[in-house]
Amino acid sequence: MSERGPLQERKARLGARSACDRGVVGFIDIPRSEGDTMKFHIQTWGCQMNDHDGERLSGLLIKEGFTQATTAEDADLVLLNTCSIREKAVHKVYSELGRLREDKNKRDILIGVTGCLAQQEQAALFKRAPHIDFVLGTMAIKQLPRLVEEAKAGKKRVIDTGEYPDNHLFPPEVARRRSTAKALVTIIEGCNHACTYCIVPTTRGVERNRPWQDIVSEVRGLVESGYREVELLGQNVNSFNGGCSFAELLERVSEVEGLEWLRFTTSHPMNFTKELAKVIVTNPKVAPFLHLPVQSGSNTVLRRMLREYTVEEYLERLGYLGEGRAGLGLSTDFIVGFPGESNEDFEATMRLLETVQYDSSFSFIYSPRPGTAALRLKDDIPPAVKTERLQRLQKRQTELAKVSNLRFVGSTVKARVESPGPTEAGYWMARTGDWKVVHLHVGSGRVLPFGELVDVSVTMAGPHFLGAEIA
Ligand code: 5AD
Ligand code: SF4
Repeated sequence: MSERGPLQERKARLGARSACDRGVVGFIDIPRSEGDTMKFHIQTWGCQMNDHDGERLSGLLIKEGFTQATTAEDADLVLLNTCSIREKAVHKVYSELGRLREDKNKRDILIGVTGCLAQQEQAALFKRAPHIDFVLGTMAIKQLPRLVEEAKAGKKRVIDTGEYPDNHLFPPEVARRRSTAKALVTIIEGCNHACTYCIVPTTRGVERNRPWQDIVSEVRGLVESGYREVELLGQNVNSFNGGCSFAELLERVSEVEGLEWLRFTTSHPMNFTKELAKVIVTNPKVAPFLHLPVQSGSNTVLRRMLREYTVEEYLERLGYLGEGRAGLGLSTDFIVGFPGESNEDFEATMRLLETVQYDSSFSFIYSPRPGTAALRLKDDIPPAVKTERLQRLQKRQTELAKVSNLRFVGSTVKARVESPGPTEAGYWMARTGDWKVVHLHVGSGRVLPFGELVDVSVTMAGPHFLGAEIA
């Protein structure tokens, strides 16, 4: 064992027996002195909602006097903020837990697991990885300080995966946002749909809306603190119903003075209304981008997925955008190899790709998830066939994305400066309103204003980015 760390110091000061040792949950006020702060590190996987949960968890710990470590190796408390949407995401968590077990054998650290895998597996996580000190569910985020205190005091297998009805009313001022050009704002948590492949209704619960006034006031505060771009988040963002419709919310938020671009994700086609399409197309502050997951181009598969729409209905809803569609970046999600997907079903998906001409898409091989209804369907497609389908779809999407990007060569567009790099000196990364990545050549040593909108002249295009210079 290494030298006594701050955690051991605290345990020693508390003495072996605390209220928690006797199974009583208590709050323990641990004295802090300068230079004696515990350091934490949070590793987050998954969607933007999880990213933002990570920012909330950071804020809670900082409020408790913790400081942020730059790496997990440097931290006394490591939080794994997990995703469980597909098996691959879960593997990543278990592999990191394996690495941390070795770390914990050498030094004194606390390990907590939060996020969707924590909600899904609950106490079973302790069986699989006994070195975990505490498990915190997605609907109990504010309980983090209590769980940490209990674990610090030596209580074993601390867990709270309860459903706190006010979880979505998390105080916005507590979140410690990472320094990014765009601020994330959760407006609705949970999902009331029941797609047969999806773990989210289990891990995130039923829909809970924040009141629209709270959202507007949070955005106002963010703009006052310097943000010019905000992304509204929800597993099913456009079913928002916190005192007004989602379309009305977009209008109200867009009235915040100083806000330049407003984004949102993720939308369900069945909650995509004419009213919403009109706001997207006409409100200049709503960034010209729409992510509308379709999942499959086959009605048979959509029915088995319980997506609640047919391909024709999906296309009809896209049609609500009218001519405004041409000025929008459009993206989607696909699942290939869903149980029973025939060659003909897959060809229907390929045809849909041609019909819609998405600017970009995310595609995944179906991953069976515990407790979901699709587990009852016979998964009889050979893995090689699934891989081949995914590759075909992705290859065609890459070609379409390049065509979409080439349209911009020779034009001047607005893009928000995000970061230097990513790889070569003299380049900066920026994003257009329709969510295209811009590699901006500025020349060595030039510093661009972080988070500001700049005019860029597009000089070349690949499938995944635009090459540009400052106009
Ligand atoms: N298997 C594969 N992909 C999935 N997604 C959700 N659940 C699964 C699953 N079980 C995909 C969907 C969704 C995106 C966020 O992840 O395409 O839109
Ligand atoms: Fe992953 Fe879904 Fe949870 Fe986000 S809500 S972290 S995508 S499982």
